[in-house]
Amino acid sequence: MAKPPLRSQKSYGKLDRDGFIHRSWIKATGLPDHVFDGRPIIGICNTWSELVTCQFHLRDLAEYVKRGVWEAGGVPIEFPAMSLPETQMRPTAMLFRNLLAMEVEESIRANPIDGVVLLGGCDKTTPGQLMGAASVDLPAMVVSSGPMLNGKFQGRDIGSGTDVWRLSEAVRAGEMSLKDFLSAESGMSRSSGVCNTMGTASTMASLVEALGMSLPNNAALPAVDARRRTMAHLTGARMVELVKQDIRPSTILTREAFENAIVVHAAVGGSTNAVLHLLALAGRVGVPLTLEDFDVLGRKAPLLANLMPSGKYLMEDFCYAGGVPAVMKELGDLLHRDAITVSGHTQGEVADAAEVWNRDVIASVDAPFGPSSGVWVLRGNLCPDGAILKPSAASPELLTHRGRAVVFEDIEDYHARIDDPDLEVDATSILVLKGCGPKGYPGMPEVGNMALPPKLLHRGVRDMLRISDARMSGTAYGAVILHVSPEAEAGGPLALVRNGDEIEFDGPNRRLQLLVSDEDLADRRRAWEAARKPSEFQRGWYRLYIDTVLQADQGADLDFLVGRSSSEVTRESH
Ligand code: FES
Repeated sequence: MAKPPLRSQKSYGKLDRDGFIHRSWIKATGLPDHVFDGRPIIGICNTWSELVTCQFHLRDLAEYVKRGVWEAGGVPIEFPAMSLPETQMRPTAMLFRNLLAMEVEESIRANPIDGVVLLGGCDKTTPGQLMGAASVDLPAMVVSSGPMLNGKFQGRDIGSGTDVWRLSEAVRAGEMSLKDFLSAESGMSRSSGVCNTMGTASTMASLVEALGMSLPNNAALPAVDARRRTMAHLTGARMVELVKQDIRPSTILTREAFENAIVVHAAVGGSTNAVLHLLALAGRVGVPLTLEDFDVLGRKAPLLANLMPSGKYLMEDFCYAGGVPAVMKELGDLLHRDAITVSGHTQGEVADAAEVWNRDVIASVDAPFGPSSGVWVLRGNLCPDGAILKPSAASPELLTHRGRAVVFEDIEDYHARIDDPDLEVDATSILVLKGCGPKGYPGMPEVGNMALPPKLLHRGVRDMLRISDARMSGTAYGAVILHVSPEAEAGGPLALVRNGDEIEFDGPNRRLQLLVSDEDLADRRRAWEAARKPSEFQRGWYRLYIDTVLQADQGADLDFLVGRSSSEVTRESH
């Protein structure tokens, strides 16, 4: 049976006034008549920006995607999408992930393209682009930015983010001069590319591979490695085939694909932020996925990748050791080997073709780098809808702990008091931070790994139990309980915690309890409700976001964006 004409032909294939308008204006970019003969039009959705090194090289990479598209008989057309620079945007790039997703969704749907290559890399660009593309459900592939080269400082490797936290703690503890600290800046970020640790960016690029949405080695090839350009070229060529075969995200992003992603996430010691992003992406394609899936499925896999922040190596080392395909090879039958990928090969075939080249960097399942892996999902009266902790990044002695709360009502309260020598706090205290959830900040910033009080740092304390409705950077570490749901701003029990309250954390049994009676909590809730003030954010994106954002346990998507839409637009523009 003859295939229906491609979607782009509804615009470029018509010999009438509308076709004239669609063709004439795009021909002015230098396209000749014959390219409108029915060949696939491939959009290249590029988050290039000078605002962030993570995407600084994506214009260059887009040229290689275009080569591949032309070679395979398609027509590449590049268009921009917002770049979401993690280290530059305030109050937090996460506030804008869903805005990018909307922009990508509407850009793909509104324009005459048949498939799309997503170029992104910084933390929120990968999930934002994937969420938008998954909703439209036209054929799509990802080319990630790739990581920066290893950081270098005083003769040793340093990792993006992870060593910022370490070095700044050393300054606060009086163990390092400010001059030395500032001299590490230039050595930490030495090339374009995303953070060189297994932070959120590299976690999401790894999960893109595990989900089957990119060619192999998408995550680990350094941004400046010539093989990334080759991969971009091959992606462009493969994208044309995906359109011809009509292989869409809904074909790839199955429940099995998400299970593979969760297992790989555990094995590489991935960022806690991935929990939010996978939940949101699953919501877009209608795959049932819950917080508990991360705990249950993550338990299957030990920690195999010895990468910061859970270990000591960096993404460049990970690449030379074999990258994600080598981890998948080690995982063997812990993965759904028959899951299909955009490459045309199953995950089992991708894994079989890989090798582990360095056992210090990628361990075997029989002799893993660490036992604790994945994320723990906690329940209890302090987090009725859940909270998470990354055990591989926490001090083991704090994984079971009881202590008294030192409460900060918001981030300003924290900054005002944490350095106070008179702050009533000791090493057994539990730092509690409110007002940092999706609605509260707004946008759920990466402040959950709040720095410790200097007076304890000076006594040698390096980790404390910390609890908040915030996120933390994928490069961060510590006994940090995150994503408490419902958040304080939404009236979660976190809002009711007071200084001196006892809190019990039982990690092995996944419990987090505020040891205050139900009667007292009911009294506190009445007082909290009576003291509420209207939000200061009354217009624009902030208003829309605060009114419609879901809680962390549901991926913090906007409530009206959950689910698939389609690529169909029935009306012409003229
Ligand atoms: Fe972009 Fe870390 S700042 S990946």
